[in-house]
Amino acid sequence: MKALVCTAFGPLEDLRVQEVGPPRLGEGEVRIQVHACGINFPDILLAQGKYQVRPPLPFFPGGEVAGTISEVGAGVGGLTIGQRVMATLFWGGLAEEAVVPARVIVPVPDPMDMLCAAVFQGGHTTSYHALRQRAALRSGETLLVLGAAGGVGMAAMQIGRAMGARVIGVVGSAAKAAALREEGFGELIDLGQEDLREAVRRLTDGAGVDVVFDPVGGELFGQACRTARRNGRILIVGFASGQIGQYATNLALLKENALIGVNYQGFFTHERGAVDRNFAELMELFARGAVRPRIDRVFTLDRAVEALAAVASRSVIGKVVVRIRD
Ligand SMILES: NC(=O)c1ccc[n+]([C@@H]2O[C@H](COP(=O)([O-])OP(=O)(O)OC[C@H]3O[C@@H](n4cnc5c(N)ncnc54)[C@H](OP(=O)(O)O)[C@@H]3O)[C@@H](O)[C@H]2O)c1
Repeated sequence: MKALVCTAFGPLEDLRVQEVGPPRLGEGEVRIQVHACGINFPDILLAQGKYQVRPPLPFFPGGEVAGTISEVGAGVGGLTIGQRVMATLFWGGLAEEAVVPARVIVPVPDPMDMLCAAVFQGGHTTSYHALRQRAALRSGETLLVLGAAGGVGMAAMQIGRAMGARVIGVVGSAAKAAALREEGFGELIDLGQEDLREAVRRLTDGAGVDVVFDPVGGELFGQACRTARRNGRILIVGFASGQIGQYATNLALLKENALIGVNYQGFFTHERGAVDRNFAELMELFARGAVRPRIDRVFTLDRAVEALAAVASRSVIGKVVVRIRD
């Protein structure tokens, strides 16, 4: 089979598409003929050796796939050959075949196509968990989303709106603001044009926001924390800026604010019942068109490095996907 192979941690340009042997199927695992692989920020960090886990070399990047089951390992129940499924994994997705633990497999619902399924989980499941369980976002509250044109951020915009919140999106360019306007979002802050705190003051008549959703970190995190009103909740989702944000804890005391971590992997591992309920609720939102990943660009497996480079370049609006077979 063909796969994008990482033989040494380093620049993305060193990754090569090669013929390799298929991965071995173990107990409790299924083999998937991969139709498409969604690209996420951690895929880049993994290939560069900058992620908190380091795969044994060589490995194939790619952490989110959709495909059909072609083989079922010993001890696996309830999954059948030919079934359309999606899965998140740490790596191994940018390949014609992937072997995945059965416990992370989710059936692809009928109305969803394979490209959409390949990019759905990375953004939407994380953002749903963040807003539903971690922030307990309520209808009528104001939600400020940083990195709002990114994979996770755009999902948070859609889910926040579907939950009845007033959503304000923060982006770094006019092109990203225009794309979000096309998605029907009217309240946007373009950091190329405006200061974050002043813009939030203007939009909220000085009141501030109830929930901050932050997948960016760095300096922006510190600014965003100051836009939270009394009883505000600040969701720490990621560090796309490459920097961990700093927080003055006196703010938490003065404004009775809460800093809340979001770790979808941990949630998935420890609260499977809630994971499944969230997914069912998300599918209802998908069925009525309230949530839908925006696919910015589609690449072939031969051009998978370009797909990773696109995400690394901060130019993507929504998601990038690699189509591996039709
Ligand atoms: N906690 C969890 O469970 C969980 C789950 C999934 C993902 N994450 C994390 O969430 C973060 C975002 O993931 P994503 O898939 O949404 O990434 P993405 O699609 O690349 O979006 C990240 C956004 O961050 C903004 N950004 C600001 N400074 C940046 C910089 N220096 N480099 C790149 N982007 C920058 C960009 O928006 P502008 O250009 O508009 O500023 C970009 O749209 C990542 O750190 C990821 O690891 C966490």
